[in-house]
Amino acid sequence: MTPQERILELRRELHEHNRRYYVLNSPTISDYEFDMLLKELQQLEEAHPEMYDATSPTLRVGSDITKEFRQVQHKYPMLSLGNTYSKSEVADFYDRVKKSLNEDFEICCELKFDGTSISLTYEDGKLVRAVTRGDGEKGDDVTANVKTIRTVPLVLSGGGWPREFEIRGEVLMPWSVFDALNEERSRNGEPLFANPRNAASGTLKLQDSSVVAKRKLDAYLYFMLGEQLPAEGHYENLQAAAGWGFKISDTTRKCTTLDEVFAFIDRMDSERKNLPFATDGIVLKVNSLRQQKNLGYTAKSPRWAIAYKFQAERALTRLNEVTYQVGRTGVVTPVANLDPVQLSGTVVKRASLHNADIIGKLDLHIGDMVYVEKGGEIIPKITGVDVDARFMLGQKVSFIEKCPECGTPLVRVEGEAAHYCPNDTACPPQIKGKIEHFVSRDAMNIDSIGPETVEMLFNYGLIKDIADIYALCPEDLMFLPRMGAKSAENVVAAAQASRAVPFERVLFALGIRFVGATVAKRLARAFGNIDALMSASLEQLTAVEEIGERIAASVIAFFAKEANRTLVARLKEAGLKFELEEETLQARTEILKGQSIVISGVFVHHSRDEYKEMIESNGGKNVGSVSKSTSFILAGDNMGPSKLEKAQKLGVRLVSEDEFLAMLR
Ligand code: IVH
Repeated sequence: MTPQERILELRRELHEHNRRYYVLNSPTISDYEFDMLLKELQQLEEAHPEMYDATSPTLRVGSDITKEFRQVQHKYPMLSLGNTYSKSEVADFYDRVKKSLNEDFEICCELKFDGTSISLTYEDGKLVRAVTRGDGEKGDDVTANVKTIRTVPLVLSGGGWPREFEIRGEVLMPWSVFDALNEERSRNGEPLFANPRNAASGTLKLQDSSVVAKRKLDAYLYFMLGEQLPAEGHYENLQAAAGWGFKISDTTRKCTTLDEVFAFIDRMDSERKNLPFATDGIVLKVNSLRQQKNLGYTAKSPRWAIAYKFQAERALTRLNEVTYQVGRTGVVTPVANLDPVQLSGTVVKRASLHNADIIGKLDLHIGDMVYVEKGGEIIPKITGVDVDARFMLGQKVSFIEKCPECGTPLVRVEGEAAHYCPNDTACPPQIKGKIEHFVSRDAMNIDSIGPETVEMLFNYGLIKDIADIYALCPEDLMFLPRMGAKSAENVVAAAQASRAVPFERVLFALGIRFVGATVAKRLARAFGNIDALMSASLEQLTAVEEIGERIAASVIAFFAKEANRTLVARLKEAGLKFELEEETLQARTEILKGQSIVISGVFVHHSRDEYKEMIESNGGKNVGSVSKSTSFILAGDNMGPSKLEKAQKLGVRLVSEDEFLAMLR
């Protein structure tokens, strides 16, 4: 078999394994075997760039070229659905359809997925385009990002699909992924996503598809459009699509009476709580395409479909007290303490009040009867006050002015809703939070110090900041509750071992606001050591790729504090790494200093990531789109036609792979 034949064979096999794993949930090989096949394909593709294929399974990992989204006109407009919250309006819909058609009909009942809609175009069984809803007429071309979604087939399996068709559905972020993402964002001091829908649509709009790949989105399809669809029924078309490798919900049912429709709604309203993703209702569609055509459309939505939305569950209870929580980054969150109340299967005692603006808008008083909802959000929230139930007005709730933990006056950054405690070097929850972050796995990875140990060490006065960790000795620790001689030694040994952690992770571990693991890596690479970073100006910082003014200002503010500089000095003293390793350093030059370089096309000698790395470690900046200020384009084979055209128009120079490598020599 020639390498070219093997590439084709591997692609076929991997597409099939992907489908078995992600769509059918019944893999026939182990993850390890899968990874080995994928690796083999990757290596062969690297050696044979002439075999490039835009639908290869290797592209699932995403590329990190930045792109502006191209706007694409929808061939068929993406309409919305008429909405109702009442069953009697569902009955009205059913009667209207019955009267108009004057013949038997079936209703296809589906979940209403709460994500962001997407339209996929397939030609000759291959995914060619993925476009967001946009304004319904035209949307953003997010093909590169959608290719990272494992449940979207890049190449169809089975057979019998039309040469060209569109299939629409919803991109979702499962609850588990959403929770983990928010947890990580909270650790990094980044704003949280309010619900999985925002998280999914935000993720689809990211410029860097390798980040999209990590977010583990999912997609369910629910609507097929085209000239030569396989069946006359909507439901039957979806079943055919399932056979081609699309993920179609197995909860979908056809009903022939209104009672059956209601039974479906009731069953789903309770079952949806066990689903791994968010849903906000049921969609009812007349099944026959011929009948759909007869019923037609209003200006905004089809007459043959309606969405029944589930009532967000709401409970009424008493507000007893508002307390305030201070997080690691000093953000102060108001929390409503309530009389316990049953809501969506759990007992709720506390609810978030978000920020001062929301408290003000609600005009809250202690003792008020308040409405609590658990929408798509993680934490229940207060959505209103039952003003009629007020017979005596309690004390008005107004946002505190001083930190509840350390008494420091709070500050509010212009344009932001949150209040902060600025005392980040001495406010207890901030210090404890910082220590927990410092020892966490992605940071210094001192796993024998968990949150309880941090609490204890702090309360006993053994550590007051992260640098104190390195001064601990077994004798200090062994007399603490639940800590024997052996675990005391383990803690000290783990702390000592963490001195080998590389600079970029130490930088992340410092817990600078907005400096997550990726940003820390970029900063470490760009500046090489802590002293250069500490003295960097706003201009120097924002010259680094993906470092905007918000991050730059946060870095400057951090190192402007005497206490933080002292902390760094003590950590240095303790032997932590504050510069890049020798071999990483040696590869660094300033040959490309001040140059903005676009990477485009397919390469022979190195991967795109490697070229990106080379640009950055030689002082250049890798940018996604061609503009007047682009210095040159590192151009491989098959460069994108739009980039090529733009480059020619703006007179931007193309540099071949070999020329580029010669430049660096
Ligand atoms: S059908 C012309 N089916 O709800 C009909 N939509 O308000 C096109 N949605 O933009 C839509 N689940 O994002 C349909 N099973 C489902 C759906 C669904 C969620 C979303 C979709 C659409 C919105 C309509």
